[in-house]
Amino acid sequence: MTTAILSALAEEQQGLLDLLHQPRRVTRAGREFWQGELHGQPVVLALSRIGKVAAATTATTLIEAFGVQRLVFTGVAGGVGPGVQVGDVVVATEFVQHDMDASPIFPRYQIPLYGRERFACDAALSALLSGASHAGLVRLEGQFDAKTGRGGRAVHHGLIASGDRFVSAAEEARRLHADLSDAGHPPLAVEMEGAAVAQVCHDYAIPFAAVRTISDRADDTAHVDFPQFVRDVASRYALVIIDEFVRTLPSR
Ligand code: ADE
Repeated sequence: MTTAILSALAEEQQGLLDLLHQPRRVTRAGREFWQGELHGQPVVLALSRIGKVAAATTATTLIEAFGVQRLVFTGVAGGVGPGVQVGDVVVATEFVQHDMDASPIFPRYQIPLYGRERFACDAALSALLSGASHAGLVRLEGQFDAKTGRGGRAVHHGLIASGDRFVSAAEEARRLHADLSDAGHPPLAVEMEGAAVAQVCHDYAIPFAAVRTISDRADDTAHVDFPQFVRDVASRYALVIIDEFVRTLPSR
């Protein structure tokens, strides 16, 4: 059974590429895909690219052209839920699109013609990813305390909101959280791709799980915190979490 490992950023993918056995590069849809093995598991590594449409194209190509049977996504996100801090990890249980609004024809946040606002992640795959995140944080203990200004990182589980915006203003983050919460969808974090990949995986009935490391608080310093965090910290998180995850994956 082939597993797709999607990374949001090249920095996150590099460590996995270094570990890939028998790497074969294939170009499709203007994107590079890397086939090979990680800990004996057949995998395809890909960069999602940024934004919902680009990520949906990558996910669809992984399923249609490479026949992947499960898909796991790593990346970074802005923390918007209470207590979701830089350096924490969020394992997604569900995704919502915070910029979907076809009202008054459909209720705000509802995906037209699906009759739903949220797409759920696969419970079994997410449980493995959660275990891998805990194990990964133990492996990284003490390494980034100076960079994140704290130790004792948490693993959260819950809803992530995706949209085609980098949220970098405290007032916008507050409103986004309040509006979603009022509609019954309080998010822990925001990013720009996960809900699109979740929808594609729903369409193809492919198990999907996602983990995001919190790089910023989606506030007025987010644009400064984000690139620094990606360079120094997120790439290491993604590597240890996926390394732990692949070791525990059943082969069928
Ligand atoms: N990914 C990481 N931080 C983000 C933010 N603040 N907004 C959107 N996507 C993000």
